Amino acid sequence: MKKPSLPTALLAAACLSSFSAPALAQDQVNIICSVQAEWCNLIQTVYGKTTGVKVNMSLKGSGEALAQLIAERANPKTDIWFGGTGDPHLQAAEQGLSLEYKSASLPQLHEWAQAQAAQSNYRTVGIYSGPLGFGYNPELLAKKKLAAPKSWADLLKPEFKGEIQVANPASSGTAYTMVATLVQMMGEDKAFEYMKALHKNIQTYTRSGTGPIKAVARGEASVSISFVHDGPGEKLQGFPVETITPAEGTGAEIGSMSIIKGARHLEAAKKFYEWALTAQAQQFGAAARQFQLPSNKAAKIDPNVPDFKKIKFIKYDYAKYGASAERRRLISKWEKDVNSLPR
Ligand code: G6P
Repeated sequence: MKKPSLPTALLAAACLSSFSAPALAQDQVNIICSVQAEWCNLIQTVYGKTTGVKVNMSLKGSGEALAQLIAERANPKTDIWFGGTGDPHLQAAEQGLSLEYKSASLPQLHEWAQAQAAQSNYRTVGIYSGPLGFGYNPELLAKKKLAAPKSWADLLKPEFKGEIQVANPASSGTAYTMVATLVQMMGEDKAFEYMKALHKNIQTYTRSGTGPIKAVARGEASVSISFVHDGPGEKLQGFPVETITPAEGTGAEIGSMSIIKGARHLEAAKKFYEWALTAQAQQFGAAARQFQLPSNKAAKIDPNVPDFKKIKFIKYDYAKYGASAERRRLISKWEKDVNSLPR
């Protein structure tokens, strides 16, 4: 058969694309992704390839994502907010930025993920959970003749001056989880006294929650306050990094997902949301070396996922510390009473 000449082929292609253009325009979904880039990218590729839907991803930390959604409230450009700590998702729900949507798959999720949905009036849902703790670089600590910290109290030791990194709670959900955990464990006054003392030992407050453990892995700091599920991924890349949860007890995040109110691609958003709740989709976290506990009870649990049964947890009040006024108040108090102090 004779091949069509180039202009004919171009014309055929142009006709095809003009027919498929309207359908394609709807076959897309705009996602703010608040887990680490590798997982976001994997989702973008896999979901895009298997469904034909174009996934536009924008990577933002939990606090920054919320700020963007507030800024675009009158004219939302985002359809789905995937991942990041649950408290700003609860805030978004409270402020009417996210859409009420009750998935039929809720019963397949762990109780904590369903509770997250219920307390937001079904405007968000838990997609994973992970404990807060410390990361440390055993090689660097050995060189400095320092013992690894085992407790919140250990982080105040003078020998850790300039050795610890944690993120800034205004931009990072990880760091806000620390603030809320300490307040719940110690009471507000003592927690702020503790954070002021800790401030003297802090080398840098990073923008993103994973910055500190990456710095520790690369030998730029000895200790980080981090989600412990962020450790194994660094270790698998060959970096010397270990994690531990503090002896006094700790908090955990309920990483969440929300559909944005006014989403332009609502049907595509719902389809993505349903997919992201399946056991199969939740395994892409571990495939991208991120080891949170998946919320779907049937999802396979990678051996690198922290063993929750071995960790001493506080009874974290997600509703109280996810409330807008409380989160804003604690963050501005932290800015004023802690971050403004000299080190
Ligand atoms: C990492 C963790 C997630 C967490 C997120 C929060 O990606 O693996 O479990 O939800 O950080 O990020 P942020 O920058 O807001 O602390």
